[in-house]
Amino acid sequence: MSYKFSPDTEKYFQWLLTRYPKKDAVLLPLLHRVQNDVGYLTPESIDYVAERMGLSSGRIREVASFYSMFRLNKKGTYVLQICHNISCYLRGADEVIEKAKSLLGIGLGETTPDGMFTLETAECLASCSTAPAMQVNDWDYHEELTPEKMEKVIQGLKDKKCALPSYRDRMSQGGVA
Ligand code: FES
Repeated sequence: MSYKFSPDTEKYFQWLLTRYPKKDAVLLPLLHRVQNDVGYLTPESIDYVAERMGLSSGRIREVASFYSMFRLNKKGTYVLQICHNISCYLRGADEVIEKAKSLLGIGLGETTPDGMFTLETAECLASCSTAPAMQVNDWDYHEELTPEKMEKVIQGLKDKKCALPSYRDRMSQGGVA
């Protein structure tokens, strides 16, 4: 499916160009915006951004795959990213990951059949002193996780009691551009 900026995204792109001295600096906020429009960075949207930025599609993919906040394929409403770096590993990240896998019935990198949860590991989330840590949808942090806490977080997300809005909800409520 082909992709083109919506009128609003085109306006946003033009505004970004006035904000930064170098065009390359526009790329990260632009990718956030495109991801918001499409749900994830499709090959078509990457090609289109590359064309508009005067960069290669490979360069856009390099940037997008470097940052965990960018999605290169369709993911669940809630993306659970559990840190498995050294501090989190030493403080029980493996048990937390196993608990999440068994509660959701999926493996790492997979999405539940109802499209609600995607489970992933992440590199250091800069929360080592309160390890193990997890981020949900890039902004909701959970620290000092245990398997029991993980169960509560997942149940809360299912009940929408402890969750921040999903990515799409947040965007539709005028969240980060
Ligand atoms: S190692 Fe997990 S937050 Fe730093």
